[in-house]
Amino acid sequence: MSVAQEIFAIYARRGAGAYFGESVSMTEHGLQAAHFAAADGAAPALIAAALLHDVGHLIADVPADIADWHRDARHERSGARWLAERFAPDVTEPVRLHVPAKRYLCATDPGYLAQLSPASVLTLRLQGGAMTAAEIARFEAEPFHREAVRVRLWDDRGKVPGLATRPLEDYRGLLEELAAARG
Ligand SMILES: [Fe+2]
Repeated sequence: MSVAQEIFAIYARRGAGAYFGESVSMTEHGLQAAHFAAADGAAPALIAAALLHDVGHLIADVPADIADWHRDARHERSGARWLAERFAPDVTEPVRLHVPAKRYLCATDPGYLAQLSPASVLTLRLQGGAMTAAEIARFEAEPFHREAVRVRLWDDRGKVPGLATRPLEDYRGLLEELAAARG
């Protein structure tokens, strides 16, 4: 099975489930994040990162009701680990860092917290809240931290009920090329 087929199978199995606390499905959420990445002229690897940033949610069993979360599911790490077997760091690192990027933006952008959705504010607490000065410095030393911030902002926007996007199938070529580039 090719990497794209494997990914499409995962979305077919789990992607119809609601994106936690939001009014879009997991598949719609990923497609919308990729849609905004493409609209902003992002490189192919970063479009793939936006599309796949929540794959950790789809490969793990986590409670559908966000209120049942007693601790953060660490989906960014499990997702990045899974992706690292298939893609290069320019895809996987922004995925691994997209939750820290939220904590970073909360600490460095005064307007950011105010526009987060209620579900995103709730998970922020589970994720450790806004970064400290030491954490900010560590985050900014990550080679892909800027890309992670971009993925984070597309992630935040990808919650629009009924937004028309390209179908998952349209990303087959992009995913296969990126997987082949990793070798
Ligand atoms: Fe997301």
